[in-house]
Amino acid sequence: MDIGGVAALVSGGASGLGRATAAALVAAGAKVALLDINGVAAEAAAKELGGVGLACDVTSAAAAEAAVAAAREKHGPARIVVNCAGIGRAGRIVDRDGKPMALDQFRQVVEVNLIGSFNLLRVAAADMAGLDPLADGERGVILLTASIAAYDGQIGQAAYSASKGGIVGLTLPAARELARYGIRVAAIAPGVFATPMLAGLPEAAQTSLAAGVPFPQRLGRPEEYAALALHICANRMINGEVIRLDGALRMPPR
Ligand SMILES: NC(=O)c1ccc[n+]([C@@H]2O[C@H](COP(=O)([O-])OP(=O)(O)OC[C@H]3O[C@@H](n4cnc5c(N)ncnc54)[C@H](O)[C@@H]3O)[C@@H](O)[C@H]2O)c1
Repeated sequence: MDIGGVAALVSGGASGLGRATAAALVAAGAKVALLDINGVAAEAAAKELGGVGLACDVTSAAAAEAAVAAAREKHGPARIVVNCAGIGRAGRIVDRDGKPMALDQFRQVVEVNLIGSFNLLRVAAADMAGLDPLADGERGVILLTASIAAYDGQIGQAAYSASKGGIVGLTLPAARELARYGIRVAAIAPGVFATPMLAGLPEAAQTSLAAGVPFPQRLGRPEEYAALALHICANRMINGEVIRLDGALRMPPR
């Protein structure tokens, strides 16, 4: 799809990978709405980048519907949706004191990362399905963010990996179902990227994660995620696939 002039939604747009993608979309001429649970940060980022910032908790059906409607009001219906809202909360299934993980902890991670992504996908897809088709009959593209933790989840990542495994499992059936409308669905599975989410880890953990990347031996840059996101938007043959973006990193058990 030609990105210039198209309306786009970016969830988690206030920070990290979402923010970098929003910036790249704006630079490519898209009209971008940044949706984030942190509405103040979304508005501040939108002001800086040139877009509209909207408070939206992606786990809420009503909030997603309202945010998509507000963005439509401002920019017209979105043909590009990039799901970057997510949380990463580590925890063992059975902790060192022998206590089981609180069920709500598992539920919350799946709720935000998996159900939240599906929520925006379903609302945006319904909107896109009614649009006029563009070249090749394309109506839109929806991008999901998985993680390499979906494939090589570490000890302490049971909830996070399960949520991202759900994204991997969602990508193909969503692409197959929405193909009849000319809507593509694809996902990026990032390795380790230098974002505020990763900055939450101790310095030593960040250094060791970076050292584990075969090449280039460093953390990924949010702009590198954004570059792939924009390529997926532009390249109509990419559909139903999850693309690892990880410098060949395969995470060890711990
Ligand atoms: N940084 C990495 O190394 C890495 C690796 C693999 C996957 N990912 C995934 O990439 C995505 C973006 O991560 P990031 O590193 O940019 O993190 P980040 O913390 O910098 O940004 C995430 C954004 O999502 C927002 N958010 C959280 N819960 C939300 C909700 N319920 N509704 C709406 N917005 C919500 C946050 O406010 C924040 O602005 C996440 O899905 C994450 O799991 C990141």
